[in-house]
Amino acid sequence: REQPTLSITIVGASGDLAKKKIFPALFALFYEDCLPENFTVFGYARTEMTDEQLRNMISETLTCRIDKRENCDEKMKEFLKRCFYQSGQYNSEEDFSELNRKLKEKEAGRLPNRLFYLSIPPNIFVDVVRCASLKASSKVGWTRVIVEKPFGRDSDSSRELTRCLKQYLHEDQIFRIDHYLGKELVENLSVLRFSNLVFEPLWSRNFIRNVQLIFSEDFGTEGRGGYFDSYGIIRDIMQNHLLQILALFAMETPVSLDAEDIRNEKVKVLRSMRPLQLEDVIVGQYKGHNKGAKSYPSYTDDPSVAKDSLTPTFAAAALFVNNARWDGVPFLMKAGKALHTKRGEIRVQFRHVPGNLYKTNFGTDLDKATNELVIRVQPDEALFLKINNKVPGLGMRLDRSDLNLLYKARYPREIPDAYERLLLDAIEGERRLFIRSDELDAAWALFTPLLKDLEQRKIAPELYPYGSRGPVGAHYLAAKYNVRWGDLSAEDS
Ligand code: BG6
Repeated sequence: REQPTLSITIVGASGDLAKKKIFPALFALFYEDCLPENFTVFGYARTEMTDEQLRNMISETLTCRIDKRENCDEKMKEFLKRCFYQSGQYNSEEDFSELNRKLKEKEAGRLPNRLFYLSIPPNIFVDVVRCASLKASSKVGWTRVIVEKPFGRDSDSSRELTRCLKQYLHEDQIFRIDHYLGKELVENLSVLRFSNLVFEPLWSRNFIRNVQLIFSEDFGTEGRGGYFDSYGIIRDIMQNHLLQILALFAMETPVSLDAEDIRNEKVKVLRSMRPLQLEDVIVGQYKGHNKGAKSYPSYTDDPSVAKDSLTPTFAAAALFVNNARWDGVPFLMKAGKALHTKRGEIRVQFRHVPGNLYKTNFGTDLDKATNELVIRVQPDEALFLKINNKVPGLGMRLDRSDLNLLYKARYPREIPDAYERLLLDAIEGERRLFIRSDELDAAWALFTPLLKDLEQRKIAPELYPYGSRGPVGAHYLAAKYNVRWGDLSAEDS
């Protein structure tokens, strides 16, 4: 039988995400020979543009793997030849019919599979899905649609969005992306746990004191204030990226690596958690700040943000998984923009060694003597295990040291971008790393009461200077649960 063709349409092709992430990821897949032989890429947006103009626009952001530069220019030319552009309105069935006509022309009678990537604001998701599924879906092959968050603002709006999408699509055609699930070290989490005897037996309240999920960026919302102001950091990062990591971290061993088995376990974790309350959370917002000759803006300096906006750009939260494995273990999340550093980390702090023979060799700070596993998602991917070690010499002084696995040193190959893996999975119909609708419901159920409370009671965020370590409230919140943030300790790697 003839090879099928794959048509990928990026709706919202002139936007930032398409330029920075989606086209480069598609090119990287092409470069690695991961795309089928017959494929075409269509950009779709309202702006009038020729194929040539689209090619010029995207060629600026395509790059070849640093470690494999051969044929780079040639490959780019070949890729660009397969890229086309169709302008149209997002709610026009007629314009999508025109797209369909062009897709058919390129498909040249072969079995067509079609993938739509919606890189557009959420208020037009449903229009696009309606037009695309009525006028431009594949009648004989498969049609899949990738959607990016925000998937609503709370439980009700998210459910409504799902209901509308399902008028035109089956659940198994909807690929809800959370790009954190495509990050190398997040994928590795299950490998680490389920393929090493030394971790899984320790993975419970019996040995783990607390788990910390940390996201920080060293820049503000510059240029994205319009979107960000109606969502805030809790919806932007915690309810999705950090919660997804938590669910993977805490889930029971799945029956198999099948998408449904893994997603079933993640849903169970989410449903075992208590919805967040105001006292479990602190919120912050960055303020302007001068450092030497440089001055940094405050969040509300952004012209698209209201001067009296209470939208949090920082939040810390304590969550609990009320099941036999995790009862009483705080899962602390912290997410912030305009902080002193950029990083994404999972930190696991283990309990104290009972009756530690060496406790006097640590001085008074016994906390320092506990083991900690650090999974650094970015930048500079790494795994560290902090252990106690004797300082060489005649005395008996103990020191906390790292067993470390630095990816750069161990795996010099460039790590693929999260979007590459996720696009490839969507093309192959692998759903493991995409969010199922019941997972999404369970995730919103945890955050919706808190978000409503914050908004209704107009809780003022604690201000913190741009480029600082964030509001002190985060320390008090952690201290309430006997926790110290690992990323702020003096000896952090
Ligand atoms: C996005 C958020 O989902 O993730 C952004 O909307 C954030 O606010 C981004 O900057 C961070 O992604 P990454 O991959 O750069 O850590």
